[in-house]
Amino acid sequence: MTRDTPRARRGRAGHSRLRRRVSAILALGVALLATGGLYTVFGPHPQLAHAQVSLASVDPAQVDPTQVDPTLVRQGEQLYNNACISCHGANLQGVQDHGPSLIGVGEAAVYFQVSTGRMPATRQEAQVSEKPVRFTPEEIAALGAFVQANGGGPVVPKGSLAGGDPSHGGELFRLNCASCHNFTGRGIALSSGKYAPAIRDVDPKQIYTAMISGPQNMPRFSDQQLTPQDKRDIIAYVESFAKNPDNPGGYSLGGYGPVPEGLIAWILGISALVAVTLWIGAKA
Ligand code: HEC
Ligand code: HEC
Repeated sequence: MTRDTPRARRGRAGHSRLRRRVSAILALGVALLATGGLYTVFGPHPQLAHAQVSLASVDPAQVDPTQVDPTLVRQGEQLYNNACISCHGANLQGVQDHGPSLIGVGEAAVYFQVSTGRMPATRQEAQVSEKPVRFTPEEIAALGAFVQANGGGPVVPKGSLAGGDPSHGGELFRLNCASCHNFTGRGIALSSGKYAPAIRDVDPKQIYTAMISGPQNMPRFSDQQLTPQDKRDIIAYVESFAKNPDNPGGYSLGGYGPVPEGLIAWILGISALVAVTLWIGAKA
């Protein structure tokens, strides 16, 4: 019997060491899960919905920049020389400290900038803001044709731009746009006096050209990242919340849509795990 005592002691010590180790491992697991969970909830996950990226990359509505109307281009040149040349240069090359080069930005960027009243810029500010629009739609088309003919780049898409699947659009919006424009398109402040504006009363062509031209701090979304159909679905989603601003979808906890629900479910799950860990720890 006496021979067994040290072994029994070692056995007991071994058991509680084992329990301590198990509970340490569990605690580590919980911590990892918590980090992973937090990351899934709050972390960025752009393009997650692109598991099946389509290779149909070029939007048929966007091709055809060759058929520019020479009179339109000439009209655009005159407007450009009056209103834009001082900041963007005689050959679209840009003017230091006044305006960037317009080579390669295309008709799409001109449409976005001029139709939202951002251009022509009038004063130095962290970010050129929207103003009353200075040009008629024909003049905007002429300016666009001129910049397109001389610098090339993405063109303004033609035809209907609202897609048929706003809920798919909503999913893509949350993944690709909500980090800056909020879940309901309310917009947020960015660093150094810059901001992502609310996207409420924006026309579909402006949403589309914003996506393909990437103004200011906004990224440019190529047709590989978001196919033309994806972009149209995003527009359908934006139009749905613009019409119905009180309903972002999901249970409304501060306008964050479905995220709080997931968060609450996740907190309950983690709490259960923590309880189990504490219980094992207490037994040891
Ligand atoms: C007072 C100077 C000024 C004038 C005049 C002006 N711009 Fe600009 N433009 C700027 C600045 C500065 C930016 C950069 C805007 C920003 O980052 O917020 C810019 C940006 C742009 C862009 C976006 C370029 C890109 O990379 O996407 C386009 C397109 C543009 N301007 C077109 C025009 C057109 C067309 C006119 C004339 C109708 C015009 N601008 C007149 C200063 C000017
Ligand atoms: C990294 C931040 C960021 C992301 C992500 C982003 N944007 Fe933007 N967005 C901006 C900024 C900044 C502006 C303002 C640009 C300017 O003033 O020149 C803007 C402007 C816009 C505008 C013009 C609004 C107006 O009132 O004229 C639209 C429309 C828009 N974004 C749509 C989108 C869509 C759709 C997505 C997702 C596919 C998206 N944005 C993703 C930062 C972002």
